[in-house]
Amino acid sequence: MNCGMIFADPTQIHQIMMNLITNAYHAVEQTGATIHVGLKESAIEEDDAIENSIKSGRYACITVTDTGVGIDPSMIDRIFTPYFTTKEHGKGTGIGLSVVHGIVKEYGGDIRVVSEVGKGTIFYIYLPLLEDVKDKKPAAVGGKHPKGCERILLIDDEESIVLMLQGDGGQRLSHEARGNSRSGGKGQKSA
Ligand SMILES: Nc1ncnc2c1ncn2[C@@H]1O[C@H](COP(=O)(O)OP(=O)(O)OP(=O)(O)O)[C@@H](O)[C@H]1O
Ligand SMILES: [Mg+2]
Repeated sequence: MNCGMIFADPTQIHQIMMNLITNAYHAVEQTGATIHVGLKESAIEEDDAIENSIKSGRYACITVTDTGVGIDPSMIDRIFTPYFTTKEHGKGTGIGLSVVHGIVKEYGGDIRVVSEVGKGTIFYIYLPLLEDVKDKKPAAVGGKHPKGCERILLIDDEESIVLMLQGDGGQRLSHEARGNSRSGGKGQKSA
Protein backbone atom coordinates (compact mmCIF):
# COMPACT_ATOMS: atom_id res chain seq x y z
CA MET A 1 0.00 0.00 0.00
CA ASN A 2 1.58 3.27 -1.09
CA CYS A 3 0.54 5.78 1.53
CA GLY A 4 2.47 8.22 3.68
CA MET A 5 2.45 8.22 7.45
CA ILE A 6 -0.01 9.80 9.84
CA PHE A 7 0.50 10.70 13.49
CA ALA A 8 -2.31 9.08 15.45
CA ASP A 9 -3.12 6.93 18.44
CA PRO A 10 -3.50 3.30 17.21
CA THR A 11 -6.29 2.70 19.73
CA GLN A 12 -8.32 5.51 18.16
CA ILE A 13 -7.68 4.22 14.64
CA HIS A 14 -8.83 0.82 15.86
CA GLN A 15 -11.97 2.45 17.28
CA ILE A 16 -12.71 4.11 13.91
CA MET A 17 -12.28 0.87 12.00
CA MET A 18 -14.28 -1.24 14.46
CA ASN A 19 -17.22 1.17 14.31
CA LEU A 20 -17.28 1.49 10.52
CA ILE A 21 -16.81 -2.23 9.87
CA THR A 22 -19.44 -3.21 12.44
CA ASN A 23 -21.90 -0.81 10.74
CA ALA A 24 -21.00 -2.30 7.36
CA TYR A 25 -21.49 -5.78 8.76
CA HIS A 26 -24.96 -4.85 10.06
CA ALA A 27 -25.79 -3.36 6.64
CA VAL A 28 -24.94 -6.58 4.78
CA GLU A 29 -26.08 -9.01 7.45
CA GLN A 30 -29.39 -9.93 5.82
CA THR A 31 -28.25 -10.01 2.21
CA GLY A 32 -24.73 -11.41 2.51
CA ALA A 33 -23.25 -8.66 0.34
CA THR A 34 -19.61 -7.55 0.44
CA ILE A 35 -17.45 -5.24 2.57
CA HIS A 36 -14.25 -3.65 1.29
CA VAL A 37 -11.64 -1.71 3.23
CA GLY A 38 -9.16 0.48 1.35
CA LEU A 39 -6.32 2.89 2.00
CA LYS A 40 -4.74 5.37 -0.39
CA GLU A 41 -3.12 8.76 -0.41
CA SER A 42 -5.40 11.57 -1.49
CA ALA A 43 -5.03 15.31 -2.09
CA ILE A 44 -7.62 17.81 -0.89
CA GLU A 45 -7.62 20.85 -3.15
CA GLU A 46 -8.11 24.43 -1.97
CA ASP A 47 -11.78 24.69 -3.12
CA ASP A 48 -12.72 21.36 -1.65
CA ALA A 49 -11.02 22.27 1.64
CA ILE A 50 -13.01 25.48 2.09
CA GLU A 51 -16.25 23.67 1.39
CA ASN A 52 -15.48 20.95 3.91
CA SER A 53 -13.68 23.02 6.54
CA ILE A 54 -10.40 21.13 6.42
CA LYS A 55 -7.01 22.31 5.23
CA SER A 56 -5.91 21.59 1.68
CA GLY A 57 -3.04 19.13 1.47
CA ARG A 58 -2.24 15.44 1.39
CA TYR A 59 -4.29 12.97 3.40
CA ALA A 60 -4.43 9.26 4.10
CA CYS A 61 -7.86 8.21 2.89
CA ILE A 62 -9.40 5.12 4.46
CA THR A 63 -12.53 3.80 2.78
CA VAL A 64 -15.04 1.32 4.16
CA THR A 65 -17.44 0.22 1.44
CA ASP A 66 -20.39 -2.11 1.71
CA THR A 67 -23.00 -3.22 -0.78
CA GLY A 68 -25.68 -3.45 1.90
CA VAL A 69 -28.98 -1.75 2.64
CA GLY A 70 -27.76 1.85 2.24
CA ILE A 71 -28.91 4.96 4.14
CA ASP A 72 -32.13 6.79 3.42
CA PRO A 73 -31.43 10.39 2.21
CA SER A 74 -33.78 11.74 4.91
CA MET A 75 -31.48 10.29 7.58
CA ILE A 76 -28.03 10.87 6.18
CA ASP A 77 -27.60 14.26 7.89
CA ARG A 78 -28.36 12.74 11.28
CA ILE A 79 -26.10 9.67 11.32
CA PHE A 80 -23.25 11.51 13.13
CA THR A 81 -25.59 12.85 15.82
CA PRO A 82 -25.08 11.12 19.18
CA TYR A 83 -27.74 8.50 19.95
CA PHE A 84 -29.20 8.51 16.45
CA THR A 85 -29.82 4.88 15.55
CA THR A 86 -32.14 2.88 13.34
CA LYS A 87 -31.17 -0.36 15.01
CA GLU A 88 -33.32 -2.33 17.37
CA HIS A 89 -32.79 -2.11 21.10
CA GLY A 90 -29.68 -4.02 22.10
CA LYS A 91 -28.07 -3.87 18.66
CA GLY A 92 -27.07 -0.23 18.49
CA THR A 93 -26.83 2.80 20.74
CA GLY A 94 -26.20 5.42 18.05
CA ILE A 95 -22.86 6.40 19.53
CA GLY A 96 -20.48 4.77 17.02
CA LEU A 97 -20.39 7.37 14.24
CA SER A 98 -20.42 10.34 16.62
CA VAL A 99 -17.27 8.91 18.26
CA VAL A 100 -15.67 8.33 14.85
CA HIS A 101 -16.54 11.89 13.82
CA GLY A 102 -15.04 13.28 17.05
CA ILE A 103 -11.75 11.41 16.59
CA VAL A 104 -11.39 12.36 12.92
CA LYS A 105 -12.02 16.05 13.65
CA GLU A 106 -9.56 15.97 16.56
CA TYR A 107 -6.84 15.02 14.03
CA GLY A 108 -7.86 17.79 11.63
CA GLY A 109 -9.40 15.26 9.25
CA ASP A 110 -12.76 14.75 7.67
CA ILE A 111 -15.39 12.06 7.24
CA ARG A 112 -17.67 11.83 4.21
CA VAL A 113 -20.38 9.40 3.27
CA VAL A 114 -21.98 8.44 -0.02
CA SER A 115 -24.93 6.08 0.10
CA GLU A 116 -27.80 4.78 -1.94
CA VAL A 117 -30.68 2.76 -0.58
CA GLY A 118 -30.48 -0.86 -1.70
CA LYS A 119 -27.05 -0.36 -3.26
CA GLY A 120 -24.69 0.36 -0.39
CA THR A 121 -22.54 2.89 1.41
CA ILE A 122 -19.01 4.27 1.28
CA PHE A 123 -17.40 6.04 4.21
CA TYR A 124 -14.29 8.11 3.46
CA ILE A 125 -12.02 8.97 6.38
CA TYR A 126 -9.36 11.62 5.67
CA LEU A 127 -6.46 11.93 8.09
CA PRO A 128 -3.67 14.47 7.44
CA LEU A 129 -0.29 13.06 6.43
CA LEU A 130 2.87 13.90 8.29
CA GLU A 131 4.40 15.72 5.34
CA ASP A 132 8.03 15.78 6.38
CA VAL A 133 8.35 12.26 7.83
CA LYS A 134 8.47 10.55 4.45
CA ASP A 135 11.63 12.30 3.27
CA LYS A 136 13.46 12.40 6.56
CA LYS A 137 16.49 10.15 6.91
CA PRO A 138 17.07 8.49 10.29
CA ALA A 139 19.67 10.21 12.46
CA ALA A 140 23.20 9.00 11.75
CA VAL A 141 24.15 6.04 13.90
CA GLY A 142 27.71 5.79 15.11
CA GLY A 143 30.15 7.87 17.09
CA LYS A 144 30.83 7.32 20.74
CA HIS A 145 28.07 6.50 23.19
CA PRO A 146 28.18 8.47 26.41
CA LYS A 147 29.49 6.46 29.32
CA GLY A 148 28.91 6.69 33.05
CA CYS A 149 30.55 5.25 36.13
CA GLU A 150 27.42 4.51 38.11
CA ARG A 151 26.46 1.08 39.36
CA ILE A 152 23.15 -0.57 38.55
CA LEU A 153 21.75 -3.20 40.86
CA LEU A 154 19.71 -5.74 38.97
CA ILE A 155 17.74 -8.36 40.85
CA ASP A 156 16.18 -11.20 38.93
CA ASP A 157 15.26 -14.81 39.54
CA GLU A 158 15.72 -15.60 35.82
CA GLU A 159 19.10 -17.29 35.46
CA SER A 160 19.36 -16.32 31.78
CA ILE A 161 18.97 -12.59 32.55
CA VAL A 162 21.63 -12.70 35.24
CA LEU A 163 24.00 -14.56 32.90
CA MET A 164 23.39 -12.04 30.13
CA LEU A 165 24.36 -9.17 32.39
CA GLN A 166 27.40 -11.04 33.63
CA GLY A 167 28.60 -11.43 30.05
CA ASP A 168 28.29 -7.67 29.60
CA GLY A 169 30.78 -6.74 32.27
CA GLY A 170 28.42 -7.30 35.19
CA GLN A 171 29.38 -8.82 38.49
CA ARG A 172 27.26 -11.56 40.00
CA LEU A 173 26.15 -11.62 43.60
CA SER A 174 23.66 -14.25 44.52
CA HIS A 175 21.14 -14.52 47.25
CA GLU A 176 19.04 -17.60 47.66
CA ALA A 177 15.73 -17.08 49.40
CA ARG A 178 14.01 -19.72 51.47
CA GLY A 179 10.53 -19.80 52.92
CA ASN A 180 7.74 -17.55 51.70
CA SER A 181 6.89 -13.90 51.97
CA ARG A 182 4.00 -14.50 54.36
CA SER A 183 6.07 -16.05 57.05
CA GLY A 184 8.93 -13.67 56.26
CA GLY A 185 11.24 -16.71 55.90
CA LYS A 186 14.94 -16.26 56.46
CA GLY A 187 17.29 -16.15 53.50
CA GLN A 188 20.74 -17.63 53.01
CA LYS A 189 23.39 -15.43 51.53
CA SER A 190 26.41 -16.23 49.42
CA ALA A 191 28.57 -13.98 47.28
N1 LIG B 1 -22.80 1.20 6.51
C1 LIG B 1 -24.02 1.59 6.84
N2 LIG B 1 -25.10 1.18 6.12
C2 LIG B 1 -26.35 1.57 6.44
N3 LIG B 1 -26.65 2.38 7.48
C3 LIG B 1 -25.63 2.80 8.23
C4 LIG B 1 -24.28 2.45 7.96
N4 LIG B 1 -23.48 3.03 8.88
C5 LIG B 1 -24.31 3.73 9.67
N5 LIG B 1 -25.59 3.59 9.31
C6 LIG B 1 -26.77 4.24 9.94
O1 LIG B 1 -26.33 5.24 10.83
C7 LIG B 1 -26.86 5.00 12.13
C8 LIG B 1 -25.89 5.53 13.19
O2 LIG B 1 -24.71 4.72 13.18
P1 LIG B 1 -23.86 4.61 14.50
O3 LIG B 1 -22.69 3.75 14.22
O4 LIG B 1 -23.60 5.98 15.04
O5 LIG B 1 -24.83 3.93 15.55
P2 LIG B 1 -25.32 2.42 15.61
O6 LIG B 1 -24.52 1.55 14.71
O7 LIG B 1 -26.81 2.45 15.39
O8 LIG B 1 -25.04 2.05 17.14
P3 LIG B 1 -23.59 1.84 17.81
O9 LIG B 1 -22.54 2.07 16.76
O10 LIG B 1 -23.52 2.86 18.89
O11 LIG B 1 -23.61 0.44 18.31
C9 LIG B 1 -27.12 3.51 12.18
O12 LIG B 1 -28.11 3.18 13.13
C10 LIG B 1 -27.59 3.24 10.74
O13 LIG B 1 -28.96 3.61 10.57
MG1 LIG C 1 -22.38 1.66 14.76
